[in-house]
Amino acid sequence: MKFFVDTAEIDAIKELNDTGMVDGVTTNPSLIKKSGRDILEVTREICSIVDGPVSAEVVALNADDMIAEGRELAKIAENIAVKLPLTWDGLKACKVLSSEGKMVNVTLCFSANQALLAAKAGATFISPFIGRLDDINLDGMELIEDIRTIYDNFGFKTEILAASIRSVNHVLDSARIGADVITAPPEVIKKLASHPLTDAGLATFMKDAEAAGIKIV
Ligand code: G3P
Repeated sequence: MKFFVDTAEIDAIKELNDTGMVDGVTTNPSLIKKSGRDILEVTREICSIVDGPVSAEVVALNADDMIAEGRELAKIAENIAVKLPLTWDGLKACKVLSSEGKMVNVTLCFSANQALLAAKAGATFISPFIGRLDDINLDGMELIEDIRTIYDNFGFKTEILAASIRSVNHVLDSARIGADVITAPPEVIKKLASHPLTDAGLATFMKDAEAAGIKIV
């Protein structure tokens, strides 16, 4: 399973990338705004740090303008995945850009039918938003399961990129279902390493090491 980090914060990306945990990065206009940086400049910097796909999102609403923006974003680096919204125009732009050999991440997916259309339009990734469905009392995980079943039924190669991940349980459930990728904020990825029994066990070992005078270097 691949881990993408959902942020445009350079320090956080560098730290996680150094651990070998990062297979790619996803950004969106809200994350770019939060970074306070220019989209082209920060995306270029991210692409110079991370080898895997870096999603950069268009801001146009009609297909022709999305295609023009997508081509511009794709010039930044070879590992750009053009992020397009799951609208009819977004699907048209997906078909054109994916036919040109560009990676495309179709985002803001909230139904299995939308995911089916994205796969037919040649998307490299489909991004179903788990947390935002949970926010309105729907089941984000059920959506991931449905997309997995549909893609497997027909052999679609589009990768399921579980997005809007808010908790470690979202990561676990996505892994159980067989999502190809999760994208999560840095804090959620780091939290995967935590367990209270690890902390308690380590505290005991440290106490005993001190009592025994253990020194290694
Ligand atoms: O990758 C999409 C993600 O950034 C959305 O997450 O938490 O804003 O719903 P959230």
